[in-house]
Amino acid sequence: MTRLDVREVTVRFGGVTAVDKATISADGGQVTALIGPNGAGKTTLFNVITGLQKPTGGKVFLDGDDITHTPTHRRARHGIARTFQRLEAFGSLTVEENIRVAADAVRAKNTKPAQVTRGLIQRIGLERYAGARADSVPTGVARLVELARALAIDPELLLLDEPSSGLSEAETESFGELLRDLAAQGRAVLIVEHDMGLIMRVSDVIHVLDRGRLIASGTPAEVQADPLVRKAYLGEEDPDESEEPAETEEPTESEEPADSTLVMPAADDEPESGGWF
Ligand SMILES: Nc1ncnc2c1ncn2[C@@H]1O[C@H](COP(=O)(O)OP(=O)(O)OP(=O)(O)O)[C@@H](O)[C@H]1O
Ligand SMILES: [Mg+2]
Repeated sequence: MTRLDVREVTVRFGGVTAVDKATISADGGQVTALIGPNGAGKTTLFNVITGLQKPTGGKVFLDGDDITHTPTHRRARHGIARTFQRLEAFGSLTVEENIRVAADAVRAKNTKPAQVTRGLIQRIGLERYAGARADSVPTGVARLVELARALAIDPELLLLDEPSSGLSEAETESFGELLRDLAAQGRAVLIVEHDMGLIMRVSDVIHVLDRGRLIASGTPAEVQADPLVRKAYLGEEDPDESEEPAETEEPTESEEPADSTLVMPAADDEPESGGWF
């Protein structure tokens, strides 16, 4: 089964270190989440994995092969597909046409594009919208179109950047089931998401980034219980600190807002809007 290994990847934009020696992995058969506050470096790391961003340092391996310098289109041939945080579908084409364009691009796999397109529309529940222009459908639906387009290449590794923003609660529920199904087929699913309810329900492994650095990796239960994660994201006191009040390391108030509670982003049309996660 597929395995993605990101080893000590660093990305600097001028003076900004967007990703700082991050090491994460994603395995076939599992849903792996990458979480962290706005600006933590999640999308930048996705860009490195798909080849859109050259890392300043570190390496990316797919099934043990070093793909750090493999061009983006060749990575797609290796079975890597992604969706974008900003929607990329062709607005003037219908939902069905958008999926068909992606299906047409992989004829080499001996699949029938029309059949693949119809199958995906059914599987993802887009029947109602198949004939609608992509720029006329609600954001949540447009995200599902993105997912269908990514699935058209039958990927081994699927990267999803905030796929559930704009989905209703019921849609998010079935979306979660879809993610589990995709993993059950043996695919590696790597998801960036601010909806913590969804992440905790569907993930096998969670990696937490904070200001470019990996601060925790583990199961949902492990990550939720991790003192560093709780401190950084839930604004909780480190239990060790309260036991040892003499410790000098004081929480700096300026770093995080005082009311840093777990806030879900509103299910609106703005994918950039995020709460703490
Ligand atoms: N092309 C770029 N040039 C300069 N700085 C960038 C560029 N892309 C990202 N950054 C910076 O790198 C950091 C990480 O950004 P990134 O978009 O990867 O975060 P993110 O975790 O995806 O955040 P969000 O949850 O808001 O989507 C931020 O400080 C951002 O401003
Ligand atoms: Mg992002």
